[in-house]
Amino acid sequence: MDEFQRRYTRFGFISICFGSIALVSLISRCSTSFFDNSLQKSQFSFPETELRRIVYNAGEENRVVDSRDVSQQILSVRSSNTSVSVFFISLPLSLVSAIKQKFSPARNFPIQSTLFVTDFQISKSSFPFDSSFRFVKFKLSTKIHLNVVLNQLQKTPKKLSRRSMVEQGLSKARTSILEASSSSSSDRNATLFNIDLPNPEVYRNPSALYRSYLEMEKRFKVYVYEEGEPPLAHAGPCKSVYAIEGRFIMEMEKTKAKFRTYDPDQAHVYFLPFSVTWLVKYLYDDNLNAEPLRTFASDYIRLISTNHPFWNRSSGADHFMLACHDWGPLTSKANDDLFNKSIRVMCNANSSEGFNPTKDATLPEIKLYGGEVDPKLRFSKSLMASPRPHLGFFAGGVHGPVRPILLEHWKQRDPEMPVFEYLPKHLNYYDFMRSSKFCLCPSGYEVASPRLTEAIYAECIPVILSVNFVLPFVDVLRWDTFSVQVDVSEIPRLKEILMSISDEKYERLKRNLRYVRRHFELNDPPRRFDAFHMTLHSIWLRRLNLKLT
Ligand SMILES: *[C@@H]1O[C@H](CO)[C@@H](O)[C@H](O)[C@H]1NC(C)=O
Ligand SMILES: *[C@@H]1O[C@H](CO)[C@@H](O)[C@H](O)[C@H]1NC(C)=O
Ligand SMILES: *[C@@H]1O[C@H](CO)[C@@H](O)[C@H](O)[C@H]1NC(C)=O
Ligand SMILES: *[C@@H]1O[C@H](CO)[C@@H](O)[C@H](O)[C@H]1NC(C)=O
Ligand SMILES: *[C@@H]1O[C@H](CO)[C@@H](O)[C@H](O)[C@H]1NC(C)=O
Repeated sequence: MDEFQRRYTRFGFISICFGSIALVSLISRCSTSFFDNSLQKSQFSFPETELRRIVYNAGEENRVVDSRDVSQQILSVRSSNTSVSVFFISLPLSLVSAIKQKFSPARNFPIQSTLFVTDFQISKSSFPFDSSFRFVKFKLSTKIHLNVVLNQLQKTPKKLSRRSMVEQGLSKARTSILEASSSSSSDRNATLFNIDLPNPEVYRNPSALYRSYLEMEKRFKVYVYEEGEPPLAHAGPCKSVYAIEGRFIMEMEKTKAKFRTYDPDQAHVYFLPFSVTWLVKYLYDDNLNAEPLRTFASDYIRLISTNHPFWNRSSGADHFMLACHDWGPLTSKANDDLFNKSIRVMCNANSSEGFNPTKDATLPEIKLYGGEVDPKLRFSKSLMASPRPHLGFFAGGVHGPVRPILLEHWKQRDPEMPVFEYLPKHLNYYDFMRSSKFCLCPSGYEVASPRLTEAIYAECIPVILSVNFVLPFVDVLRWDTFSVQVDVSEIPRLKEILMSISDEKYERLKRNLRYVRRHFELNDPPRRFDAFHMTLHSIWLRRLNLKLT
């Protein structure tokens, strides 16, 4: 029971079906017929072509072998009143042809694989099918346990089977998520759901997100390449505006990281752990161009694609890089496949610069002075109760396409709208955020800005003023429930637009903002549903979109 029972549940009924059908087929070919009508419990029907499709190797490592790549030859069938054992050779076809060339005839195979069948109740009554059957219909006892022990020499199918296990796991996850996304909320595991996602309003499809998150926790494995030396690889900034870049890399580098695997055959995705911020810091020379960054990235990919088979296998589609620095996209141009195929996780998510939301993911930009959130932005009662006399606040440099328009119309025009180019020294930036209802978040040099997360922390509703910016976690979060998006062309009407938001709606936005805060926070160690995990989840979702054969 024990071992078998576990496999039985692990592989589900299909494996039992295929295994059993394969067995019946083998038996029938040996023109020995066994059948017992009295033990019939379930009935199955499959085309014969399916019979040899899949052999489940429930050996020690629970691997699946695709039998289209395997030659199976029956050596013998032994039976007693209560059990049947079928011995057969099972080898990869490539090996068979190699061996055939060396040894002729083929029966000189030095090895054999064994299919054991135990607990299979049989009686030597008539077998109801002749050998030319097109379909098999038979009934069997639910107590059948199959154990296929494949030969250790089968290196190739072992690897192949490990990969198919990965794909099979993903396909189960997809099914489960689809099921959850279409099920009504009453089907949810309400207790756990309410603890984990207490405010469903802010999510696009809370049930699907919840299921997907749980599937990620259960299955997701990342292989981190070991190539490269710190500080350019395996390290990154953990402070200041690009902190999330280093924090993510360091988290994945931890030896016992929950989502890390050291077995590349079990990985769903492969991480290229270099830091664009550190590339800029160590390789960029003001007098030169950014070419050294690209050279590094291109060399790195050459290195890993020569040392390992994984990059070439998918053209990088199951690989990801992560960068918060503005030059992440530029660095990714070093290699066409990195740019066009890989998952690029970046703060600078400008969709008119090749950011492709179906395969790339937006990283939130989180500014951490000395590695910490500013005390004024920490969650507290005083922050919640903070009076908000100002309507909309902005202070920052005039650069990029949007800010000049904003400043032109609002710079120190209206006491209710404190808009500054640079904040006078005696004023505190975060005090303004805490005392404003809305925080204006225009793009700067690049689309992303740490302002967005700071506004979330300050419970100041972000007013997003940008073009082509793909917002962080936009595939799971409903940004319109906790932020306001204003078209750049509407900037002259900004005050009017903000004034038209009712108190009721404002309170609701603010309440939701408080709920989503945790998705934008970095913790050490990371907590469930925080920015680290939401980023991983974005990668997981993109990997789910990808079907590798
Ligand atoms: C198998 O059947 C024979 C004859 O019916 C019987 O003598 C023998 O004990 C049975 N063996 C087992 C293992 O049940
Ligand atoms: C909900 O989850 C808990 C913990 O995994 C489990 O014990 C419980 O049976 C589940 N309830 C439903 C209705 O699935
Ligand atoms: C991957 O492809 C590149 C370029 O075609 C080649 O140089 C490299 O050897 C390949 N890697 C492996 C592991 O075969
Ligand atoms: C890949 O990206 C490059 C730019 O880096 C572009 O020139 C090229 O056309 C893209 N290739 C494909 C197949 O999209
Ligand atoms: C986004 O990319 C486009 C195209 O390169 C560029 O014109 C625009 O300025 C970028 N946006 C920002 C905010 O940098």
